[in-house]
This record gives sequence, structure tokens and C-alpha cells, in this order.
Amino acid sequence: MKAVLCKQHGLPDTLVVEDIPSPKAGAKQVVITVKACGVNFPDTLIIQNKYQFKPELPFSPGGEVAGIIKEVGEGVSHLNVGDTVIAMTGWGGFAEEVLTDASRVFPVPPVFDFKTAATFAYVFGTSYHALKDRAQLKEGETVLVLGASGGVGLAAVQLAKVMGAKVIAAASTEAKLAVCSQYGADAIVNYSDDNWREQVKVLTEGKGVDVVYDAVGGHYAEPALRSMAWNGRYLVVGFAAGDIPKIPLNLPLLKGCAVVGVFWGEFATRQKKDNQANMMQLFGWLMQGKIKPHISAEYPLEQASQALNDLLERKATGKVVLVVD
Ligand SMILES: NC(=O)c1ccc[n+]([C@@H]2O[C@H](COP(=O)([O-])OP(=O)(O)OC[C@H]3O[C@@H](n4cnc5c(N)ncnc54)[C@H](OP(=O)(O)O)[C@@H]3O)[C@@H](O)[C@H]2O)c1
Repeated sequence: MKAVLCKQHGLPDTLVVEDIPSPKAGAKQVVITVKACGVNFPDTLIIQNKYQFKPELPFSPGGEVAGIIKEVGEGVSHLNVGDTVIAMTGWGGFAEEVLTDASRVFPVPPVFDFKTAATFAYVFGTSYHALKDRAQLKEGETVLVLGASGGVGLAAVQLAKVMGAKVIAAASTEAKLAVCSQYGADAIVNYSDDNWREQVKVLTEGKGVDVVYDAVGGHYAEPALRSMAWNGRYLVVGFAAGDIPKIPLNLPLLKGCAVVGVFWGEFATRQKKDNQANMMQLFGWLMQGKIKPHISAEYPLEQASQALNDLLERKATGKVVLVVD
């Protein structure tokens, strides 16, 4: 089978595509024929050895696949050969087949096309956990989303709207902000403008925002924290800008706000039932057409480097997906 391989850590251009033997399912494992693989920011980090998971070399990146069960190992009862599934594999998905623990695999109704199925769970699972469980977002509150046109960001925009909040989307270009408006943002702020914090203040009539959803970090974090309302919740989701911000601790004191960490993968492992309930709710909204992944680019396996570079070069809006023939 064909696989995109990381044989040495580095930037996307160091990846190679090779033919390797098909995997075999061991006990409690399955092999999935991959039809599509969502591309997520952590894929750009794992190949540089900068992510919390550090698979042994060589490995294929790709943490989120949709496909069909090819082989089922001993002791697997909830899956059968031929089932349409999604799987949160961590890595291994940029390939024609992936071997994974059966516990990471979920059957999905065949009503979803593979591209939608492969780009849905990671970003919506993260953003729903962030807004519902960590921020305890209430109807009528205001949410400022940083990196709002990105994968988790655009999911946060849509979910905050479904949950009855007012959304201020912040991104770096007018084209990206137009996508945020298309997906329901009530107001937009270009955070490349020096006065963007002032714009947030005007939009909230001086009150500030109740929730900040920060998947970007870097130099955007402190102005966002300074834009918070009393009793606000600042969600620490990611650091796409590269730098992990160092926050003066007097700010949460003065604002009476909470800085709240979000780690969806760990939540899904530690609180399986809560995560399953969240996912059921999300699939319901997807089927009702209330939320959907926005796919801005799709590539074949051979162009996996380009797909990852789209994220690193800030070219993507919503989701990028690899499609496997
Ligand atoms: N905590 C969790 O459980 C969890 C789960 C999933 C993802 N994450 C993290 O969330 C972050 C976003 O992931 P994603 O998959 O949504 O990524 P993405 O689709 O690439 O979106 C990231 C956004 O960040 C902004 N950005 C600002 N500076 C950037 C830079 N130097 N390079 C790239 N992007 C930059 C970009 O928008 P502008 O150009 O508009 O600034 C971009 O839209 C990542 O750090 C990821 O690791 C965390």
C-alpha cells in the first residue's frame, strides 16, 4: 500500500511517499481502508517532533480518517468488515490503510460523504468541549474567536452561534473574515489592524467579551485577555502562531476572569461517556444542517506536503483534506 512517510523529523517537504506492506490487525485492533484523512495543525507539529505524541520513525502523519473496515482483530465486537467508520488514530492516516486500536474507531451512518466524515470530529469535538464543558457558555454571552477562519476556529464560530451566543470573529485577512461571516459570525475584526482591541471594545459597548476562544496564542493573546468582561473565561486551545504567550497574572485578577485549559484528546480518553454524549449532539446538529465542516482544499496523498504547508503558511480556511483513491 501507498503511504506518506516521515523518515526524519522536519518540515512537510521532507515527507516521502512509498509503497510499504499492508498492516495486519492484532488483538483489539482493526485495519481501515482510508478514503479521506482530515489535515489538522498537530500533523504539522508531529512531523517536526514538536507535538505531545512522539511516534517512532518512520511513521505516517494523519490523525483523523474516514474509511471502511478492511480487517478486524480478535476481541473486537463493535465493528465488522465493511463498516463505514471514522477513527481518531493520532497518526498513520496519510496512507491507503491504517492500523489502529478498535477503541479509537466509531461507526458512522453512510449518509455522510467521506470528506465530511474525515474533517468533522476533531475540530467540532474540540470546540464543543471548549465552549460547553470548559467555558460553560450561556445563551446571550459574547464569544471572541481568535483564528476564527481556521479548523477549530470556524467550528467554534458555528457552535457558539448554535448555542445562542454572539460571535466576534478575529482573523488576519478580509477574505478569511468573509468566510467567518458566511458561517454566522455577528461581527468581524481584522487582528492585523493595530487598533483591533479598540474595535472589540466598541463592539461590546465597553463591556468586553465573556469568552475568548484562543487557538492562536502569540502576540494576540494579551490584547484578547485585556478585552474580557468581568467573570469571563479565557480558553487556551492552541498556539498556531508558534509562541506560547506569557501572561501577566495581574490581568485575570483585575478582570475577575478565569484562564481555562482545553485538551480534547485527554478529555475523550478520561471522560469517554461525556465525550460520546457530545459527539452524539454534534452528529445530530450535522444531520440537521446546523453545522458543517468548510473544506477549502483537497489533495491526493502525493501532495500531503502541500496540504500541511497550506496550514503552516496560513493559506487554509476551515479544513484541508487528503482524498485517497
Ligand atoms: N487543545 C486541544 O484540544 C486542541 C485540539 C485541536 C487543535 N488544537 C490546536 O489548535 C490550534 C489550531 O489548530 P487548527 O487545526 O484549527 O489549525 P489551522 O486550521 O491551521 O488554524 C490556525 C489559525 O491560526 C492562525 N494563525 C496565526 N498565526 C499563525 C501562524 N504563524 N501559522 C499558522 N496559523 C496561524 C491562522 O489564521 P489567521 O491567518 O487568520 O491568523 C489559522 O487560521 C493548533 O495549535 C492546534 O494544535 C488544540
